[in-house]
Parts: sequence; C-alpha cells; structure tokens
Amino acid sequence: MPKKRIGILTGGGPAPGLNATIYGAAKAAFDQNWDVLGIKRGWKGILTGEVMELKPSRIRGIYTLPGTILKTSRTNLAKVKPKGSTEEEDKTAEVASFMNAHELTGLFAIGGEDTISVADQIFKQYQVPVVCAPKTIDGDVCGTDRTFGLDTAANWVGNAIAGLQADFESTGYIAVVEVMGRKAGWLTLFGGLKGGAHLILIPELTYDMDEIITNVKRVYDELGYCIVAVAEELKIPHIAHHILVAESTRLDSFGHDPIALREKGWARVVAEKIAERTGITCRPIVLGHAQRGGAPSAFDVSMCLQLGRKAFDCIQAGIFGKLIAWQSERPVAVDLKVAGGGKFKPVPPEIYEPLLACLP
Ligand code: F6P
Repeated sequence: MPKKRIGILTGGGPAPGLNATIYGAAKAAFDQNWDVLGIKRGWKGILTGEVMELKPSRIRGIYTLPGTILKTSRTNLAKVKPKGSTEEEDKTAEVASFMNAHELTGLFAIGGEDTISVADQIFKQYQVPVVCAPKTIDGDVCGTDRTFGLDTAANWVGNAIAGLQADFESTGYIAVVEVMGRKAGWLTLFGGLKGGAHLILIPELTYDMDEIITNVKRVYDELGYCIVAVAEELKIPHIAHHILVAESTRLDSFGHDPIALREKGWARVVAEKIAERTGITCRPIVLGHAQRGGAPSAFDVSMCLQLGRKAFDCIQAGIFGKLIAWQSERPVAVDLKVAGGGKFKPVPPEIYEPLLACLP
C-alpha cells in the first residue's frame, strides 16, 4: 500500500510563523507515516511543477525561523499572464491534475486573503481537497480571531518605534513612521501602541489634516517631540493624491499596487504637511519589509504548530474546504465560505476605539 501524501504551499507576503505552520503539518503527517510534498513558491508551483520532498531531517527546527522554506509568490491561478502575453488565463483547473499527478490526498495552502481566495475557488469549482491557514502580518483575514505573523510583526514594529523615542526626544524632531498592513490598521495600531507612538493613524478612520496638525502640536507642546505611526494606506480627503496612479502593469495579479514602489507614501505626505504647517523638522520613516522578517514570537510559534497539526488532522479525516482558524485560543476548522473565501477584515470600532482612547 503506497504511503498517503499531503502537499503544502505558502503564498503571498512572507510572515513569521510560516515555517512553524509547515512544520506542524509535516510532523503530524510523518507521525502517521504519511509523506509530504513541498510545493515551491505558492500557487506558482502548481504551474512550474517546482516541488521538494519534505523529510524529517529537512524540517528539523524550522519552526523557530522566519520566512518559508517553500518560498512564496503572489501568483493568482485565476489570472495567469503567460510570459510575453497581456491576456490573463484561468489556470485553476490545473490544481486538480497536479494533485492527481503527484498522488496527493490533500493540499494545505497557507496564506492570506489572496491565497485563501484561490483555495476557496478551486474547492468550490473542482472540489480540490484543500485546507488553509490564515497567514499575514496584516491581521485582516475573516473567520479567525487572529492571523499568524501579526503578533511577531507588531512586537517588531513596537521595538522599532520605541527605538526612535530617545532620538526624537533629543532632536526635538517629529517622526512619522509608516507601518505595513495594507488596508487594515491592525499592525499600525498594535505596533504603535507597543512602541509608545503619540498618535496612530489607521485606514479604518477618515482624518482631517487640520485635526492631525492640532493633535501633533498638542503633543509637541507637552513633550518637545512627537512620534506619529501611520498605516501605509490612509483616508485623508483633499490631500494631494500622492499615490502615483497605479498603472495596470504595476498591479499584481490580485490587484494590489506595490506600495513600496510609490513615489510618496503616507509617511512622506503627512511629514511634509506637518513640517509645512508647524515649521518643525519632520522625518518620514518607512519600516518596510523588515517588519515581516522577525523570528516568530512564542505566541506565533505555538499557534502555528497547532494550526499545522490541525490542518493535517482534517486532511487525514477527509475534511476539506476549511480554514483552520484561531478561535477562543485554539485551532478550529471553519468553512472557507465563513472566512469569506479570504474576505478582508478591517479593525472593528469595538477594538480601535478603546485602544485609541488610551493615547495621551
Ligand atoms: O500583505 C502583507 C504585506 O506585507 C502588506 O502589509 C504590504 O503592503 C505588502 O505585503 C507588501 O507587498 P510586497 O511583498 O509585494 O512588496
């Protein structure tokens, strides 16, 4: 009787905990005498056939490491542009044939709302036996209390902001620190609070520049410096649209505009406005991709190991079309449609209101 086998892939932006989630599932599979096929570079591996046989020796100790041994990509199987072509093709049907070719009993797709949306589509359309786990430092996946990577990244952001305090108190400058999270403010809020930011601007709220200036002046008058944490996406009406109109060529296959390529991000725009209106020296600081590179926190390691094991348990039990969510401090298999097929989850008012009210 040939050994049964699962496939594992990791998609989207890297996040601390990916390797721990891979490990959790693979170790559980090895314990049941199953094989594990690593699929390289997310959904792209389905098209390229780039795979690696995972063995106990290859995964030893990886759960403490950032990044993903399987590499990742932002490939959207539903919208694949063959090399040199501008036409998008739907390649989702290829997953089923890939599963057959590699004799996979189940597929574990680890990723954020984009990766999960592809899994939801191939499960609904082709009944591909897939389960997912919610990865992203953005915190913005529906159906789960938490996404992994957020705790680690929020501590990393907090430490970075804390590291600015003495510097800006000494210079009397104003820092405007740009934090990742795309259209959700989870990371900016949690990281800003941990780092002692004096003001925190999140995408969930609409701001008025005059109000921002008033608050900055209030803090500055009291402390002689000010640190503002801003999300990489904000809503400040009437501010010159600093974002280059994202040409379609620049959007990735999930429609995201690579924020790192923007001529000016919100930190630069807000810092320039503050300097213009107050005459105080400002410094925009973009924390960038290092926010995703920290070794996973104790919380993320223990959560991810449990998510991974639960994912294998589902596959072994023949339970598919699930997101292994984190609910009430434990891994719970919820229908992918409950997760909205990877629907976006902003910070709700019942969380951001009391937290922002804690700011001085
Ligand atoms: O989705 C995670 C994330 O880190 C976002 O917070 C950020 O805007 C984006 O990925 C960066 O994308 P890329 O890795 O393509 O530059």
